[in-house]
Amino acid sequence: MGGMKTWNVAKIKASKGVCKLACITVYDYAFARLADAAGLPLLLVGDSVGMTVLGHASTLPVTMGDMLHHTAAVARGTRDALVVADMPFLSYQISDAEAVRNAGRFLQEAGADAVKIEGGTLRAGLIRTLTQNGIPVLGHIGLTPQSVNVIGGYKVQGKTREAAEQLVADAQALEEAGVFAIVLECTPPDIAAMVTAAVAVPVISVGAGPACDGQMLVLHDLLGLSDNKPAKFVKPYAALADTVRAAFRTYAAEVQSGAFPEPGHCYAPSGIPPP
Ligand code: KIV
Repeated sequence: MGGMKTWNVAKIKASKGVCKLACITVYDYAFARLADAAGLPLLLVGDSVGMTVLGHASTLPVTMGDMLHHTAAVARGTRDALVVADMPFLSYQISDAEAVRNAGRFLQEAGADAVKIEGGTLRAGLIRTLTQNGIPVLGHIGLTPQSVNVIGGYKVQGKTREAAEQLVADAQALEEAGVFAIVLECTPPDIAAMVTAAVAVPVISVGAGPACDGQMLVLHDLLGLSDNKPAKFVKPYAALADTVRAAFRTYAAEVQSGAFPEPGHCYAPSGIPPP
């Protein structure tokens, strides 16, 4: 979908203190169209696609190929929202040159507007290089799921004074490096308030409480599309798994009984007599 978008990185940046950003993850064309039409400002093609859509146990197996495929589908369904592609595990860690090439592919081949990279101070140099080369970056600190094996599980972050101070330093390093916004995942709300107050770019919460400049929910959690017990911070706004299950069962029963299809579902008879 061509033309100027309603949401660009400058507008996302300028939203701080003006309006709260309601962001979600999206992985395909159909849901991108629905989210875009609802006016959501930022659609993240998260590497959570590995779990929600592809059935992996973590985000680590997700490849550049997976992410390009899903990002292109989302971009085709989006007219107004900013489309951010998540850079998958090992697509930006090996060298800055590889990272620039991979990030550039999301803009050049898949139609993304920006990329997201996990990590704080450690990634500041790379993020400066990307932004200086025309690739906008959404930062991601707090719980960074690509490091789950180092962290030792999906745990709340920033619970000690040192850890909280490190989060503030990370956010400031990312701002200095040129990110247009920062995702802050799984921290206590008072620590999130400190981080949010410490930078001039929007901080988008994933389980970091109400003081942030916006919220982000994973699509399948928001719609109640998964059978897994949702994390504490999730609020399901629908129960689509129940709706879908009921539809499948009713369909199967009606095919079995002959109630479907009815005459109204059939084309006009040809009138040709059987041989
Ligand atoms: O992959 C993802 O869905 C994410 C968000 C939760 C921020 O990284």
